[in-house]
Amino acid sequence: MANILAFESSCDETAVALFQADARQDINTPRLFHALHSQIALHAEYGGVVPELASRDHVKRIRALTSSVLEQASTSLNSVDVIAYTAGPGLAGALMVAASFAQTLAWSWKKVVLPIHHLEGHLLSPRLAGENHQPIPQFPYIALLVSGGHSQLYAIESAGHYRLLGESVDDAVGEAFDKSAKMMGLPYPGGQYLEQIASLCHEDSPKINRTLPRPMINSQDLMMSFSGLKTAVWHAIREVSDEQKPQKFPVIAREFQQAIVEVLIHKTLKACDQTGISRVAICGGVAKNQVLRDAFIKATSSKKIELFFTPMEFCTDNAAMIAMAASFHISRAKPAGAYAVYPHWTLEDALALITANS
Ligand code: KG4
Ligand code: ZN
Repeated sequence: MANILAFESSCDETAVALFQADARQDINTPRLFHALHSQIALHAEYGGVVPELASRDHVKRIRALTSSVLEQASTSLNSVDVIAYTAGPGLAGALMVAASFAQTLAWSWKKVVLPIHHLEGHLLSPRLAGENHQPIPQFPYIALLVSGGHSQLYAIESAGHYRLLGESVDDAVGEAFDKSAKMMGLPYPGGQYLEQIASLCHEDSPKINRTLPRPMINSQDLMMSFSGLKTAVWHAIREVSDEQKPQKFPVIAREFQQAIVEVLIHKTLKACDQTGISRVAICGGVAKNQVLRDAFIKATSSKKIELFFTPMEFCTDNAAMIAMAASFHISRAKPAGAYAVYPHWTLEDALALITANS
C-alpha cells in the first residue's frame, strides 16, 4: 500500500487529496485528507465556466490547497509514494495546472506519477466511504454517472474493467438541469436551485398545460436523450405569464425533475436485468439530488438490488475520487517526464495508455 497525493483541476474545482493506506489497513478504510476550492462564485456572473479564468484560479489555489492537505495529515511530501492527477478530459488550460504541478513535484521529489481519467474517478467514487463511513459497493456494480458533462451507465466489472452500457445521445442530465434552470432565471449552476424551487410545490399548486416527455424511456436499449425534454421545458415556460411565474415555475421544475428521475430509474433497472448485476451505484454531481436519491431507494426497495450513492461531498468534482482511481493502478506509475493533457480523452484510450505504459 502507498500514500497517494492526487490533484484535480479539469474544470472549475481545484482539489487535492491525500489517500493514506498502510500495510495494516484494508483498502476500503484508508485515511483520507482532502481540500477543495470551488470556482462557482467566480463564474456565476458569466452564466458558465470561463476557461481562462478557471486556469488562472487553479494556478492561484493549488499550492495552498496542497499545503493544507499535508498539514491536515501532519505529514510532508517525503511520505508520499505516488502523485496522481486528472489528465483529461476537461479544459486544456485547466488540466495543465494539475498536470504540471504534479509532474514538477514528482520530478523534484523523485516520486512516480499516474495520469488518471476523470470519469474513472467518478465511476469509482462510490467506493469512497465518506465522512459518514457509509457502505461501499463490491465489484461488479452498475454505475449510473450523472454529471454536468456525462449521463452514462457502466458495468464496473472490476477496477480497470468498465463496460459502457448506454449513454445520452445529446445533453447530459446535469446540463439539462442547468439549462432548464437558466430558462427560469435561476443562478448557475442551476441543478441545486431547480431542485429547491421544485420542492416549493404543494397539493394546491396550479397545473401546467403540458406533461413533459420521458424521452427514449421505452427504447429497447440503454441509450437516453434529454435535449427534447429541455425544449419541452422552454415551451412550458413560454406559456406562463409573468404574474404566474412564482406559482408555475416550481410545478415545471418538479415535472422536469420527475421526468429525469423516471427515465434514469427505468434505464438503470433495465441495465441490471440485461447484465444480471444486482448492485447499483449512483455518482456525479446530479447524484446530490435528494428527490433522485429517494426515488431510487423506493424503486429498488422491493427488488433484490443493493443501492449505493457516492457520498455527498464526493459527487461533484474532487481529488479523493482521483486518488481512489489511482489506488488501483499504483504498479503502473512512472517517473516524471514529458507529459501531455487530453481534453477529449476517452476512458478506453486512457485505460489503454495506462496498460501500455506498464
Ligand atoms: O460532476 P460535476 O461536478 O461536474 C462534471 O464533471 O460535469 O457535476 C456538476 C453538475 C451540474 O450540472 C450541477 O447543476 C449538477 O451537477 N448538480 C445537481 C445538483 N447538485 C449539482 N443537479 C441536480 N440536483 C442537484 N441537487
Ligand atoms: Zn466531473
